[in-house]
Amino acid sequence: MTAAQRLTTLVEHVRAAAGRVCPPERTASLVGEALRAYLPTRDVLTPAQLAGDPDSYTQHILHVEPDGLFSIVALVWLPGQATPIHDHLCWCVVGVVEGVESEVRYRLTERDGRACLVEDGVVENPSGSVCGFAPPGDIHRVRNVGTGTAVSIHVYGADISRVGTSIRRRYDLPAVPALR
Ligand SMILES: [Fe+2]
Repeated sequence: MTAAQRLTTLVEHVRAAAGRVCPPERTASLVGEALRAYLPTRDVLTPAQLAGDPDSYTQHILHVEPDGLFSIVALVWLPGQATPIHDHLCWCVVGVVEGVESEVRYRLTERDGRACLVEDGVVENPSGSVCGFAPPGDIHRVRNVGTGTAVSIHVYGADISRVGTSIRRRYDLPAVPALR
């Protein structure tokens, strides 16, 4: 199967999963099953796209559903590149195609009357792994912790070509240890 055919098959299965009326966490789980079964390979991107950008991780839109129900994008990360701490507008499912991505999760809380973040777990996602989540409570930061390029495929429950990004808010807040 070529990369294009595999993407077409993924789109069909994501369409079936995302079209079911159910809570967003369940949608993310169903879309995750589709992504796990039909995870694209790195050749879904051109060599120029796979080269990355030294300034920042880059996003390439692979598919937007005509009615805006979901979008599929590829992100390319050079070693050490990371997102800001952020959360999302919509459900999101991620599959790592190449490399290792580390995800740090946070909980928003208040300490002495000030908003702050408490680290709430770290997950390392190697190539082939798929995970999904739905807001609220999805504050996190992703970083390429490997020595080579990382590539991941993201399915978002929104029209990314219209809104530009799936990020709802960035959190420039101090991170504090959890209270014992
Ligand atoms: Fe994210």
